[in-house]
Amino acid sequence: MAIKDFIDIADFTPAQLGGLLDRALADKKLFRQGKLPASLPHKVLAMIFEKPSLRTRVSFETAMTHLGGHAISLTQSDIGLGQREPAQDAARVLGRICDGIMARTFSHQLVVDLAGYSPRPVINGLTDYSHPCQAMADIMTGMELRGDLKEAKLVFIGDGNNVARSLAMLCALLGIEFVLACPKGYEFAAEFTAGVKARCPQARLSQTGEPLSAVKGAAIVYTDTWVSMGQEKEKARRVKDFKGFQINPHLLAGAPKDALVMHCLPAYRGYEIAEESMEAHADCIFTEAENRLHFQRSLLAVLLGEGGIE
Ligand code: CP
Ligand code: NVA
Repeated sequence: MAIKDFIDIADFTPAQLGGLLDRALADKKLFRQGKLPASLPHKVLAMIFEKPSLRTRVSFETAMTHLGGHAISLTQSDIGLGQREPAQDAARVLGRICDGIMARTFSHQLVVDLAGYSPRPVINGLTDYSHPCQAMADIMTGMELRGDLKEAKLVFIGDGNNVARSLAMLCALLGIEFVLACPKGYEFAAEFTAGVKARCPQARLSQTGEPLSAVKGAAIVYTDTWVSMGQEKEKARRVKDFKGFQINPHLLAGAPKDALVMHCLPAYRGYEIAEESMEAHADCIFTEAENRLHFQRSLLAVLLGEGGIE
């Protein structure tokens, strides 16, 4: 049976994920040739935001417009999810009036609950646990710029948080080596790494406190903010803890010259990435941002227009 929602990378097989990536790369070409069909005429996507967003909001809304549909942005002050009414009621209302829901929330369970109650597809637009659309756009970018990534190594310098988890799971499923380089206390929970290994016994997944040795042989060096949305009160401690885990020319001197440098954005220059490294690798970093649009447009076409992920 086709999968109705896009909640977490772990919900899919390597063939399904690979299929979505190939589809997004092909659709991007068609779009650029002006040949991508507007396959969602009059369809409406409800977008729920408990946290701020630039890329997620603009890419989903633009994608719906390209496909001939429309998107409605709803903030917590508009709908009071869990306060004005429970998620299970909001999900059933939106799932009847609209054709799909994209949600960015703090709690991951909330997106799972929305999907459980909505008769229409629900897409995870980032939770505290995962950010699957970001990971897909990132690997799509790597494939576009470097071709097959099967034997490649992706080194993530930073917090073992939502973006890192989605990337780690996606790399495991696609046969890409994943290394998390982070300070003590910011590693993946043992439960998560056990889950990856249970899902993919062959997964090449490791963690280290030595970023400089980790980047040796890396095809992709990746980072994300040290202070995620909702962690603002921990900023002083995190900035202290992550000292030495910055992407900068010194670190990149240890990586292959042609390594791609990625960042999911927003970037905090002078913290997780140095200004000069950010600018030197801007082309790759902003291709990732653009690919949020291309990946999600294909995802929307599949979920809202083609009955789900087979
Ligand atoms: N990378 C990303 O999800 O960006 P926004 O938070 O701006 O949506
Ligand atoms: N880890 C970051 C990702 C932002 C796209 C956060 O959750 O704020």
